[in-house]
This record gives sequence, structure tokens and C-alpha cells, in this order.
Amino acid sequence: MTLERWKDHRFLKACRCEPVDTVPVWYMRQAGRYQPEYRALRERYSLLEICRNPELCYTVTRLPVDQLGVDAAILFSDIMVPLGPMGVEFEIKEHIGPVIARPVRTPADVAALQLYAPEDELAYVMTAIRQLARDLPVPLIGFAGAPFTLASYLIEGGPSRHHLRTKAWMWSQPDAWARLMDKLAAMTVRYLRAQVAAGAAAVQVFDSWVGCLAPADYRRFVLPHMRAIFGALTDLGVPLIYFGVGTATLLADMAETGATVMGIDWRIPLADARRILGGRTAVQGNLDPALLFAPWPLLAARARSVIEEGAAADGFIFNLGWGILHHHPPVDPATLARLTELVHAYGREVLAR
Ligand code: CP3
Repeated sequence: MTLERWKDHRFLKACRCEPVDTVPVWYMRQAGRYQPEYRALRERYSLLEICRNPELCYTVTRLPVDQLGVDAAILFSDIMVPLGPMGVEFEIKEHIGPVIARPVRTPADVAALQLYAPEDELAYVMTAIRQLARDLPVPLIGFAGAPFTLASYLIEGGPSRHHLRTKAWMWSQPDAWARLMDKLAAMTVRYLRAQVAAGAAAVQVFDSWVGCLAPADYRRFVLPHMRAIFGALTDLGVPLIYFGVGTATLLADMAETGATVMGIDWRIPLADARRILGGRTAVQGNLDPALLFAPWPLLAARARSVIEEGAAADGFIFNLGWGILHHHPPVDPATLARLTELVHAYGREVLAR
């Protein structure tokens, strides 16, 4: 059983707020366009073709583990993938993001969304996870998009700066909103449970756009659904990571969801985040991803500060405050390998103090 195999791995120990030998590290978007091998594959296959082919998914998921020496792999997929079998037609357009063919605009559109068995409809994901869980030298993180972030794509029809249509819908049609969020939450629970059954040793829920909400709206329109998700996953006994961007003012409420690890962005110091979260919630983050483009001495100094703050208490996983950014020229993979070494070496030093 894979969970048993990884029980004492430093990534999972840190997630459980247990003492570790050194600071575990992985990077959001550690598989992606900064890698020459990924860019070469993308000349031949679309993003979704890679997601839907277990062999390609395996290769792309595994690459950063072998190249960077990170302590966890994250399944290569996209938050949009599980919307397909619900009946949502979409594309992922390069440099734009997800674009929905027929956005959700009416209560009837919500009613038309189908719940399904992910073991069948997304069998290719589970096949990739089973093979990865068997072969990888580190635990595999499964993931899903959070209902708010998915609802925003569904309602807006694509990426959005102010999420105006989404908020207008939420405020003017609260019942339809609740039904949409319930359905997305139910799908997310099924999908993540299937991922853990296939071998994922932890799961992360990405709520990239939730930071656009005022705390009162978060509490009323999002929190109950997040609580339903994490509450329905607790019995699995795997770390439940919750990540959002621009969430400094929401952390106190996000701590009420039942997530056991909180992803923290770079706009709030880890010590402040810890104080707000209190007690037993582990923290993951939070180096500004733009620092990967800074001169190495500055990047190294900032990484050491993050490590000092994070490692001041048990329950710290080093990561970026958001995914690796795509830019020209791209981040050099050697920089990430060097950063990984720094985290392990300096983490050991700080923890021994
Ligand atoms: O972290 C990893 O290595 C796992 C892979 C992963 C992808 N998407 C692959 C991907 C994960 C965890 C995601 C989640 C995801 N997808 C989120 C939440 C996390 C976040 O970054 O906020 C969101 C909002 C999406 C939707 C999405 N998909 C966007 C906004 C984009 C970027 C569009 C662009 O071209 O800039 C995508 C495409 C996407 N998903 C890429 C990757 C590696 C870009 C590379 C490509 O097109 O091949």
C-alpha cells in the first residue's frame, strides 16, 4: 500500500507537523514550459493530450522529480480536466488559459452538469497515478480545482480580471450559486477520493482566484462548500492542502475549512500567516515566484529568510507563493535544482539550532 510506504517521508511528516531531518520542498508548476523537454513534447502534443495519455502524463510528472531532487511529485493535469465528463466543453488556449464553449449562465445550465464516476470517466488519470505511485522515489500529490475558481471559469467563460459576472451571479442568484458550488464540491470529493485510492499520498485544492473575495463573501458563499470537501476527505488520513492567491485577509476563515496544510502566497510573511492560522495547520510556501528571475545571491538570501521563518515551528514545506512563471528567457532548471539543494542544506542547519 503506497500510503504505508510513504508514512515516514519528510514531506508527509512536515504536513502532519511532525519533526523532520530537513525542510521538504517542491514547486507548484514544477512541470511546465520552463523545461526544454516539456517544450519539445508540447510541439507534438497539446496540453490536454498530455493530460489524457497516461504515458505522457507519467513522463511529464516524473521529469522534475528526477531533475530537481524535490520531495514530492504533483500529478500533471489541469483543474479543468474533471469538468469534461460533467458535460463542459472547453479548450485551454496558450497564453490565455481555459475557455468554455457555452458558459454557465442559468439555473438550467447548473442542473445540466452531470456527476459521474471518476474511476471510469477519468480512468486515464487513475492509470497514470497508479504507475507513478508505484515507481516514484517520492510521494505523489493529487489535486483538483476548488469550486469557486472552477465556478469563475464556468460563469465568465474564460479568465477574468475582476470576476464580475461570477460575483453578480453569486449575489443575485444565491440558490443557483449554492447548487453550482454543491455540485462542484461533490465532483471534487469523488475525484480526490479516486486519486487517493489510486495512490496519491496527499491532495491539494487550488483556489487561485478566491482572493478576489471580501471575507464576508468568502464566509457566506465559499466556506461551507470548502468545509464539505475537506470534511468528506478527512477519513482518508492524507494531508489536505488548500492553496489560494492573495488570501492574507482570508486565512482566518480558510483555517475553518478542515484543511491540514495551508498554501501561503508571498504577500504575507509566514510568521504572520502562522499566527492567523494558529495551532496545528502546517504552512507551505511562500517565495515570490518572480524571484526565480533575480540574481542568485538575492534569490538565495530571500530563500534563506523564508526557511528561517518557516522552520521556526514544525509543519513547514518550502514552495513558491504561486506556480513557476512562464517568461522569456525561461527560468533555468539549474536554478531550481540549486534552490532545492539550498533548501535541504540550509533547512538542516536551521532545524539543528
Ligand atoms: O504544478 C504542476 O506541475 C502540475 C500541473 C498543473 C497544470 N495546471 C498544468 C498546466 C496544475 C496544478 C494546474 C492547475 C491550474 N490550471 C490552475 C491552478 C493553479 C494556478 O496556477 O493558479 C489554474 C488556474 C489552471 C488553469 C490554467 N491552465 C491556466 C491559467 C493556464 C495557463 C495558460 C497559459 O498558456 O499561460 C493553464 C495551462 C497550463 N496548465 C499549463 C500547465 C503546465 C501551461 C503550459 C502549456 O500550455 O503547456
